[in-house]
Amino acid sequence: MWQLTLVLCAGMALAVVNPKTPQMGWSSWNAFQYDVNQSLVENTATAFNDRGFSKAGYNYILIDAGWQSLTRAADGYQQADPAKFPDGIAALADTVHKMGLKLGIYSDAGIYDCGFYPGSFGYEEMDAAQFASWGIDYLKYDNCGGFAGNTQAPAERFLAMDYALQKTERDILYALCEWGHQFPWFWADQISDSYRMSGDIHASFAGDDASVCTTAYCLNTGYAGVSVLTMIRKMRELSGFQKPGSWADMDMMEIGNDVMTEVEEQTHFSFWAALKSPLIIGANVATMNQSSVDILTNADMIAISQDELGTAVSYIPDLSVEDQIQVWGGPLSSGKQRFTVLALNYGNATTDISIPIASVPGLSSVTNKKYTVKEVWSNKAVSPNSTIKLTGVEVGQTKVLVFSEE
Ligand SMILES: *[C@@H]1O[C@H](CO)[C@@H](O)[C@H](O)[C@H]1NC(C)=O
Ligand SMILES: *[C@@H]1O[C@H](CO)[C@@H](O)[C@H](O)[C@H]1NC(C)=O
Ligand SMILES: *[C@@H]1O[C@H](CO)[C@@H](O)[C@H](O)[C@H]1NC(C)=O
Ligand SMILES: *[C@@H]1O[C@H](CO)[C@@H](O)[C@H](O)[C@H]1NC(C)=O
Repeated sequence: MWQLTLVLCAGMALAVVNPKTPQMGWSSWNAFQYDVNQSLVENTATAFNDRGFSKAGYNYILIDAGWQSLTRAADGYQQADPAKFPDGIAALADTVHKMGLKLGIYSDAGIYDCGFYPGSFGYEEMDAAQFASWGIDYLKYDNCGGFAGNTQAPAERFLAMDYALQKTERDILYALCEWGHQFPWFWADQISDSYRMSGDIHASFAGDDASVCTTAYCLNTGYAGVSVLTMIRKMRELSGFQKPGSWADMDMMEIGNDVMTEVEEQTHFSFWAALKSPLIIGANVATMNQSSVDILTNADMIAISQDELGTAVSYIPDLSVEDQIQVWGGPLSSGKQRFTVLALNYGNATTDISIPIASVPGLSSVTNKKYTVKEVWSNKAVSPNSTIKLTGVEVGQTKVLVFSEE
């Protein structure tokens, strides 16, 4: 707050973007890991424009780890790997901006990042200034090691980069990747625009790595290999923290990576959107199946994600059955009242799901008036009733209802 006041009094722009709705974009990591380069970024930007992603609202192209040389230059600045980025990052940012999109980059709050490329610890101001001079619009900031263990808490190391970004006076969206270890939902709103609430996702709908913990607060060290269903499970404790300017990030999506059925990909997208996670595509957008493109660009789902109220859906225990059905609900924008309800079958057999509307907390704000109901994925109207009966919900499928005051 002290920093904020000082900056405002001086009449300068804040570096922090403070996104009113969750950011939307693409990141290289899930599909390409360290194999990033200039043509991949250019081809992705082209596919964004050609395949309808830009039109749907996706605008950030994010280069994840692997862009750097293994050492800093003699003057201490970061250098892009010249074999991967022959024209340099500034020229690439220029190209991406001319295509109507924004460019993001990756660094780390340690001495090294997770692949032993240089981190920004101790170089925060130099790196932030360099990113700003290149025309960078977004920084993902990771939490790998090499720093003097236990001498500085993550919150302190991440704050140092926030100060450095603010000093650049460029709007650089600051996305923390602290893996949820120190419960960033309690402090990240003071520092960043979004924060990862868990260890890494991996390409599986329901299968976790053995060490993964399934709730938001468990203190074990298993930090990667989280399935889509477990990421959703962890949000039961966190959905109430979601608010404009500080988004819990459920990690890059696995839609389009050929590991899920169509209904599982719909479920993945439904929850990332309704839980107000940043929507960062983690697949090859130039080659992914059209069915995945259609899911990622579904206008009704994106309207739920980008709804101006910025309130995430909450888990409804009374309507859910552990390991079989989960029902979540939450309000959409005020004015004309709207509300969304998600019903997921994660049991073993096709099932019907009944939603007595009086049992959905908050829904009466819409249903005590004249209203309509629509199911998003089938794009069909559902007739209003005191109990909405969803028939034939497939294994892994989520039905998304939108209730709207007429
Ligand atoms: C760029 O990266 C992509 C994805 O990893 C790879 O398929 C392609 O061969 C690379 N191109 C160059 C010129 O290195
Ligand atoms: C994409 O299409 C291929 C070829 O038809 C198919 O094998 C694959 O399962 C599809 N992937 C998804 C995610 O639908
Ligand atoms: C689903 O199948 C698994 C494996 O066969 C079993 O352990 C589990 O109890 C089943 N769940 C339900 C809800 O029937
Ligand atoms: C409401 O649901 C009941 C029971 O499923 C059904 O008999 C009735 O026709 C429904 N009413 C409307 C208006 O759809």
